[in-house]
Amino acid sequence: MTAFATITFDLLDDIKRLKHERNAVILAHNYQTGELQDVADFVGDSLGLSYRAAETDADVILFCGVHFMAETAKIVNPGKTVILPDLDAGCSLSESCPAEDLANYLNTHSDKNYFVVAYINCSAAVKALSDVICTSGNAQEIVQKIPPERNILFVPDENLGEWVIQKTGRHMDLWNGNCYLHVEFTRESISGIKAEHPGAPIVAHPECTKAVRLLADEVCSTEKMVAFCRNHPADTIIVVTESGMLHRLRKEVPGKKFIAGPTDRCACADCRFMKRNTVEKAWNALNTLEPQIQLDEPLRQRAEIPLRRMLEWSR
Ligand code: 13P
Ligand code: SF4
Repeated sequence: MTAFATITFDLLDDIKRLKHERNAVILAHNYQTGELQDVADFVGDSLGLSYRAAETDADVILFCGVHFMAETAKIVNPGKTVILPDLDAGCSLSESCPAEDLANYLNTHSDKNYFVVAYINCSAAVKALSDVICTSGNAQEIVQKIPPERNILFVPDENLGEWVIQKTGRHMDLWNGNCYLHVEFTRESISGIKAEHPGAPIVAHPECTKAVRLLADEVCSTEKMVAFCRNHPADTIIVVTESGMLHRLRKEVPGKKFIAGPTDRCACADCRFMKRNTVEKAWNALNTLEPQIQLDEPLRQRAEIPLRRMLEWSR
């Protein structure tokens, strides 16, 4: 029995009521459950969510995503209440780059005078050590804006970094981090699915390994996947990313078939961090206004500089 089992009213209806009462906005990432996506005011990728967070005039932001996403919303909204359904909704990529390790690395390589590009999947403390933030939706664009004479250190995702190098031709030193979920997809598993659906194009997230990216017809952010699937003439498409993406695709691109594959050889799987959020926890967060994202103000101010730079550079 869950702690919420005694609640008999419709949680989704009550979330809408609480939302109005609190003057709250609900932002949800494409990897959230279908129910959370459907109750949200805006569903999108990290880039779209960052813009929405920066633009909102709501008093409360309920962020249905992972911790670094809610933290990003707080960085640009110090005066607002930012709540996350489950504070333990972390991210393996973010964990793979502790701020102390990055600070030590930058100290020991001070001769390089690095321009640090941080993928948004990192902590506020890592953002505070960076020069600009990027997402999978704008990484190429951001890197191309950096003066050619600067040495670039890209943190924390080595796969996204490698993809950006390949696309832009710009040399970058890469941090050794990755997404535990996206690196689980293998060339063999995706080739097997392709063999069953030879006419279906493959769309994959850039956090996948190079071996998987090479099989893909398109490599892009979750938001760009929606446009790719809508515009591609194929009626069956293999989607290589987190499983929440399928809800958004099936809803917004009706009439097409999206292949996630059988679970033993899948092209889509659950992120254990994203899926910590539930409707019950979202209701509880709106009801109690807890758990809240709290940030030390000097740290927040330092983290805001590279984040605002990203928002300016990718307009
Ligand atoms: P997007 O910004 O492409 O939605 O990616 C976020 C993420 O966490 C991918 O694993
Ligand atoms: Fe982090 Fe990977 Fe989950 Fe995205 S899918 S939130 S990168 S662990």
